[in-house]
Amino acid sequence: MTITHKQLIETTEYLREKGFLEPELGLILGSGLGDLADEIENPIVIPYTEIPHFPASTVKGHKGQLVYGTLSGKVVIAMQGRFHFYEGYSIQEVTLPIRVMKLLGAHTVGLTNAAGGVNTTFTPGDLMLITDHINFTGTNPLIGPNEEEMGPRFPDMSETYDKEYQSRIRGEAQKLNVALKEGVYMGFSGPTYETPAEVSMARTLGADAVGMSTVPEAIVARHAGLRVFGVSCITNLAAGMQSNLNHKEVVEVTQRVNQVFKSLLKNVVAAI
Ligand code: HPA
Repeated sequence: MTITHKQLIETTEYLREKGFLEPELGLILGSGLGDLADEIENPIVIPYTEIPHFPASTVKGHKGQLVYGTLSGKVVIAMQGRFHFYEGYSIQEVTLPIRVMKLLGAHTVGLTNAAGGVNTTFTPGDLMLITDHINFTGTNPLIGPNEEEMGPRFPDMSETYDKEYQSRIRGEAQKLNVALKEGVYMGFSGPTYETPAEVSMARTLGADAVGMSTVPEAIVARHAGLRVFGVSCITNLAAGMQSNLNHKEVVEVTQRVNQVFKSLLKNVVAAI
């Protein structure tokens, strides 16, 4: 389904009336990483099902609610669970929350996800700073008439993940003694995990991690002029590099690294 500008405004107005005023930062919390939103102070929590034009999240390990409040001294909106293309939503629906964050006044979005490690030096449980991405989803959220109110027809993607934020995130990881990995995230549509041949291809093409989210959101955010940072939780080695893959393992590993992930993200929110 295509989302019109009028619908975006309706969603934004609804959230403003609920008190979602002037957020600085939007955060999208991936599979198993939603707990960070529980640390938001003075929260206003709204389930996606109550928000006009929001799809409902269907993935296990995702709560499906929007949380507004203060985190590390910043006014934030966090998505506890995101929308994925593989759930059957249109790519415009998947990325609608990013545009709403922009219309509410945010200047930055932080994208997090669970991802499979393709780089042979990675271990499950590693956190990876996303330095760039490869859009391998087979689509692009900006296909269709350009929303001139949001951004240009041909957006520059040469610095999708903000370089200044990257260096601050490295600094925060160092202070916390977190061995932060970094690399290129390659976004597939899912819902299948990759084949070993696809993982070899991903590595040859320059990917360090593979996953089923983030890329459409980063594209829409840059189109809208938002600054973007991204952190992946490497929950497993990608297909062919370990015996078998399943969602249960993905969620278990995110839970194991939850404390470190939360500490890093809270310090990053304070530092940007
Ligand atoms: N592939 C794609 N998406 C993922 C993976 C993976 O190996 N692990 C967690 N999300």
